[in-house]
Amino acid sequence: IVVMSQGAFAQEYPTGPITFVVPFTAGGPTDTVTRLIAEPMGKELGQQIVVQNVGGAGGTLGATQVAKADPDGYTLLLHHIGMSTAPSLYPDLAFDPVKDFAPIGLVTSVPMTIIARKDFPPSTLEELIAYVKEHKDEVTYANAGIGAASHLCGMLFMEAIDTELVTVPYQGTGPAMTDLIGGQVDFMCDQTTNTTGQILGGEVKAYAVTSPDRLGNLPDVPTTAEAGLPDFQLGIWHGLYAPAGTPDGALQKLGAALKVAVADPTVAGRFAELGTAPVAADEATPEALASLLSDQIALWKPLIDAAGAKAQ
Ligand code: MLT
Repeated sequence: IVVMSQGAFAQEYPTGPITFVVPFTAGGPTDTVTRLIAEPMGKELGQQIVVQNVGGAGGTLGATQVAKADPDGYTLLLHHIGMSTAPSLYPDLAFDPVKDFAPIGLVTSVPMTIIARKDFPPSTLEELIAYVKEHKDEVTYANAGIGAASHLCGMLFMEAIDTELVTVPYQGTGPAMTDLIGGQVDFMCDQTTNTTGQILGGEVKAYAVTSPDRLGNLPDVPTTAEAGLPDFQLGIWHGLYAPAGTPDGALQKLGAALKVAVADPTVAGRFAELGTAPVAADEATPEALASLLSDQIALWKPLIDAAGAKAQ
């Protein structure tokens, strides 16, 4: 039996491909962020990174799979704000976002856009609010399941306008966008990493961005504050995690590779085209991710309990 010391492990790791689990289907915003940072991380680590999409239950199925994975450094999770809302939304959640994971670092925080199929009657956010209130039993809102960022944004929007709407859940907002463009669903709140191209291409109608200021590449889209919902701001932060128990040697190498990726000019350029930016290197750290995660779990619990948005 060859017993490798931690030190030996550190020299050796990684000796094979590393899987990044994305807890939503391919083609959506989480998938896009993951593939953008996987490329420079793979180069830095000298190994291929395989992106595995595991959709379902608002991201909790994919997160559960990684929580239960062998903590050998070869299965990671790239997930967003949904890691902090899941404990309040799923009473029987199969994982603990803090105890079952080793944080590697923050990646980016992405603004959201309120969008609709291009022939949806309302032209402004004000008109949208009036329209969905009047037609609340017919209008359909798309999201990626309870726990998704698109679910959270929708929940806050429905709270803000005091109206419960018909929701259509998808395995990710990639397929939801397809139906929005096809006119099968009416509107959605989704991240600029998925909506920028469609908005600029005139495939969907944009009412507002949930960022404090307008976005450079969507100059004509007002902020929610300008459009009448000043309290309605939301940034979708993303983190990279390994299962708890992953050896320090692996975590160190993964953390170093993440820092290289977020500092990569190509990544910064691509993120900028998509309305966002990678975090600064000092946020691509376990400490920064761990403290944001615990702050956000505490922040969202009372808001979710008040909204009564529990997973059925
Ligand atoms: C979400 O709504 O949480 C994500 O945008 C879903 C996805 O990445 O497909």
